[in-house]
Amino acid sequence: MASSFKENHSLLKQNTFGIEMKCHYYFEFTREQELLAFFDSFSDYKKYPHFFIGSGSNLLFLNDYWDGLVLHPLVDGINKISEDKDHVYIKAGGGENWDDFVSYCVANNYGGIENLSYIPGKVGSVPVQNIGAYGVEVKDSIFAVEGFNFNSMQYEKISGQNCLFNYRDSLFKNKLKGRFIVTSVIFRLDKNPVFHLDYGQLKTETAKRGKLCAKNIRESVISIRKSKLPDYNVTGNAGSFFKNPIIDYEKSFELKKNFSKLPVYKMDDGRVKVSAGWLIEQCGWKGYREGDAGVYKNQALIIVNYGNASGHQIYELSEKIINSVMDRFSIKLEREVNVIKN
Ligand code: EPU
Repeated sequence: MASSFKENHSLLKQNTFGIEMKCHYYFEFTREQELLAFFDSFSDYKKYPHFFIGSGSNLLFLNDYWDGLVLHPLVDGINKISEDKDHVYIKAGGGENWDDFVSYCVANNYGGIENLSYIPGKVGSVPVQNIGAYGVEVKDSIFAVEGFNFNSMQYEKISGQNCLFNYRDSLFKNKLKGRFIVTSVIFRLDKNPVFHLDYGQLKTETAKRGKLCAKNIRESVISIRKSKLPDYNVTGNAGSFFKNPIIDYEKSFELKKNFSKLPVYKMDDGRVKVSAGWLIEQCGWKGYREGDAGVYKNQALIIVNYGNASGHQIYELSEKIINSVMDRFSIKLEREVNVIKN
C-alpha cells in the first residue's frame, strides 16, 4: 500500500462515534519517508492546523468541516528486535491494530499487556493516552516510542521514562500535543510475567477458565468488556468519555462522610482516584437519552451515539453531566476523549 493524499475527505468511517466530518486535506502514509516527501511536495501544509488520526476511537468531532490537514499513519509490521533472559523487545508499527498485537503477544507467551485486551485503537495511539484497564497501564510495557517531531522536523526515539506517562496522560498530550506523530512503539514484554488479577471480577472470571495464564486472562477480559461496554460497530462511542477524577485524600474523606459507597482507589502519591461512572450514575444519567445522544445503560462513563447525534449534541450532553457532577459533588470531571473543534 502506498501513501495517499485527498481533498475534502470524509472521516465518517474513521471515528468510532460515527460522526461525519470532512477535512480539507488528508494524507495517509505507510512508510516514514513518505511523510518527509509529502512535506517537501506540499509546503502549504504549514498554513493549516493539523491533527493525527489513528482509528479514531478517542475523538469527538464538533463540526462537520475541518479546514486543515489530517495525517493518518499506517506504518505496519511486528518484529522481535532483541531479547534477554527476562524480556523480549518487540517493535510494532503505529498502524497495527492494537488488539491484534495483544493477541500476537499472548500467543507467543510474551506477558504484560494481556489485561489490555480488546481495547479499540491502533498501536500508535496507545502511548498517547497511556491506555489502561484491569489494574494495568501500557506505560509499564513501553520501552520507547518512535515518531516524527514537528518541532525538530525529524524522526526521534523517546524512551519510555521520557514519555512522562501518567494516568491517561503523557508527553504527547501535553508538551508535544499535536507536535509528535507516533510511527512505531517498542514494547518490553516479560517472559515470566507476574499477572495482575486484583481488579473487579477478573480473578473469578479467570479461575472459571482453569489455568492462570495470559490466554485465560485475555479471554476473561474480552468477556467482561463485551458484557459492559458497547460495540462501536453497533452503537457509536469512544470508550470512557471522562477520566476518573483524582482528588486530595482530605476531600475524599469529607465526601465519604456523605456518600459512603463512593468507590475510591488510593494512588501511589497519596491522592485518591474516584469512579466517574459512579458519580454520573448518582446524578441520574445512566441510560439517559436526549435525541440520539445518550449515556450507556451499563456504564455511565460512556456516552453513545444511537445513530445521528451530532458532535455538538454529544458535547452538550457532556457539559450537562459535568455541571451536574460539579453541583452535587464539587468535583470537576475532565473529558478523556480528544475534542476536535475549529
Ligand atoms: N461504577 C458505577 N456506575 C457505572 C460505572 C461504574 O457505579 O455506571 C462504579 C462501580 O463501583 C465500579 C467502579 O465504578 O465498580 C469502576 O467501574 P469499571 O470497573 O467499569 O471501571 P471505570 O473506572 O469506570 C476504567 C477505565 C476503563 C477500563 C475500566 C476497567 C477510565 C477513564 N476508564 O473505567 O477504560 O476499561 O476501568 O479497568 O479510567 C477507556 O478508557 O475507554 C476505558 C473503557
